[in-house]
Amino acid sequence: HVSMVGRNFLTLKDFSPSEIEQLLWTAADLKARIKGTGELYTPLVGKSAGLIFQKRSTRTRLSTETGVGLLGGQPCFLSPDDIHLGVNETIKDSAKVLSGFLDLILARVYGHEDLESLATEGSVPIVNGLSELYHPLQILADMQTLQDHFGNLRGLTVAWVGDGNNIIHSFMMGAPKLGVNLKIATPKGYETYPNVTKDAEELAKQYGTQMYHTNDPRDACEGANVLVTDTWISMGQEEEKQERLKAFQGYQVTHKLGEVAAKDWVFLHCLPRKQEEVDDAVFYSERSLVWPEAENRKWTVMAVILSLLKDHVCTTPKPDF
Ligand code: CP
Ligand code: NVA
Repeated sequence: HVSMVGRNFLTLKDFSPSEIEQLLWTAADLKARIKGTGELYTPLVGKSAGLIFQKRSTRTRLSTETGVGLLGGQPCFLSPDDIHLGVNETIKDSAKVLSGFLDLILARVYGHEDLESLATEGSVPIVNGLSELYHPLQILADMQTLQDHFGNLRGLTVAWVGDGNNIIHSFMMGAPKLGVNLKIATPKGYETYPNVTKDAEELAKQYGTQMYHTNDPRDACEGANVLVTDTWISMGQEEEKQERLKAFQGYQVTHKLGEVAAKDWVFLHCLPRKQEEVDDAVFYSERSLVWPEAENRKWTVMAVILSLLKDHVCTTPKPDF
């Protein structure tokens, strides 16, 4: 057992393979016990978590708000209209004040550096609820979904067909540590950020996994077990809509694209989804794991928050990753 009490959860880059496995084991443990057997498990009685959102959210907000409550803790949702953060009060001052009220802060922000400031200036664990750079909670949920579906993760190949930003960046930080190969197709000009790519290439080398970049979706999907995409227009990029729709032509995930993938390929999408990046035939098909993927956001965020606040001991067997 490795203790993660007191840590921040800003990027999977900061977490070792055994720590990531323990978070996934904890998520599986909570799911089996609370959902599976109806156990009442309230280790967070007396704890409170602040949820700062500078952008919209359905999944991250609801999974955290209900998840913290389920574990006996108190979640406090703070929309940009409710608090002064970064508007009327500096992040530094807000972080210091909030640290006096709360045991943990989850924040969804524009610039990743705002999370780093919260972590530096505050004195409670900070959890990344999405930044421009990373969305590590989403990747834990994706990994739990693939684990549930395939029975293990090691040796799977994930093909990314889409934009080079937060979601794929977090895949790149997590996949090598779990033995998952990544083949990444992004349109020219929408590649993953150079610093992230460099770090990820090193991780892939260190853990002996494949990490491959291309501008051709078919090339990425060749032999892949999992096809993943995300919106082409992330929150805050609404003004780029027309040029992005043009640049991403040929990137829609369809059964035709899946023809080059492994026979048993499945589809993931963090949601919210638009039709341009994946057609209805795939999105609503048997191959699509998007609903369990969304549900797993809850078990995984519960695992993260619990692990940063307390040493949780799993009572169900460790999955074979
Ligand atoms: N996938 C995800 O983070 O969804 P929300 O924007 O609804 O939180
Ligand atoms: N890339 C998307 C993810 C939403 C969960 C965005 O940043 O808006």
